[in-house]
Amino acid sequence: MNIAVIGSGTMGNGIAHVFAQHSFPVSLIDISQDSLTKALATISKNLDRMVTKGTLTEEQKTQTLGRITTYTDLQQGVQNADLVVEAATENVDIKLDLFRQLDSFTKPSCILASNTSSISITRIGSVTQRPDKVIGMHFMNPVPVMKLVEVIRGYSTSDEVTTQILDLSKQLGKIPAEANDYPGFVANRILMPMINEAIYSLFEGVAGVEEIDTIMKLGMAHPMGPLQLADFIGLDVCLSILRVLHDGFGNPKYAPCPLLVNMVQAGHKGVKSGQGFYIYT
Ligand code: CAA
Repeated sequence: MNIAVIGSGTMGNGIAHVFAQHSFPVSLIDISQDSLTKALATISKNLDRMVTKGTLTEEQKTQTLGRITTYTDLQQGVQNADLVVEAATENVDIKLDLFRQLDSFTKPSCILASNTSSISITRIGSVTQRPDKVIGMHFMNPVPVMKLVEVIRGYSTSDEVTTQILDLSKQLGKIPAEANDYPGFVANRILMPMINEAIYSLFEGVAGVEEIDTIMKLGMAHPMGPLQLADFIGLDVCLSILRVLHDGFGNPKYAPCPLLVNMVQAGHKGVKSGQGFYIYT
């Protein structure tokens, strides 16, 4: 099965890594050659962690990297694909345009998956002639480490395609869980209100950043506190997902905390910008 991954950012390079490590030939596609070069370096570094730990041999690392071919041309990169996993920028117009192109550039049998964290799979499917073969394959960051794949069925996604993607996720050593296509699906519908509430607790002076994170980390056995996790995900991403929940349900409980809005407007987006609730050097 030939895989094409679109977008070589954090999620895209992690997805390409995992497919290649599990013996699938992968075309990694990005409009920027520079991003592709950086992605291969990141994948190599993450494979090195596994070699150091003894969970992968040097030879397996070389083979994994050898299965990844990079492309800056979309049509060339997807023409032989049996499955495309799109992990491009989280922007509706960009995604809809991409899926229109994918529909014309790929084989009719090709499954078109999106790693979107909150854009409707049904809406994405509706711009193609194959909505039955459009599905959500939502990996978690860091992709090589996190076990979950949230598999999202659009309104028209077929049973057959859903079963194929559930099976494929297992072949990657992941544990899939199926959800229907409603705002935020399951992962972000539950995670983002928790993060937003943590930001409200800070905003209202209930506790400081470290206290909030310590309480949730040690009290609930979460690997990261919610404010550290928000920085890790990206505050701009958290804000945009909260807006999808707020618009989609029309319920004020999803309204983003004004502090989050301010921080994003000020360019404090978390780890990627060097500053969020914490400072990163
Ligand atoms: N690639 C490969 N391996 C990686 C890695 C990467 N990018 N990052 C970390 N690792 C590995 C390390 O090698 C290490 O492996 P071992 O335990 O086998 O030695 C392990 O992961 C733990 O790493 P560290 O010791 O460096 O650091 P840590 O113990 O603090 O764990 C973490 C880091 C895995 C990120 C952990 O803090 C964690 O699980 N955090 C929560 C992550 C989370 O919630 N992700 C979901 C975010 S939501 C999302 O992605 C979806 C969305 O739509 C917003």
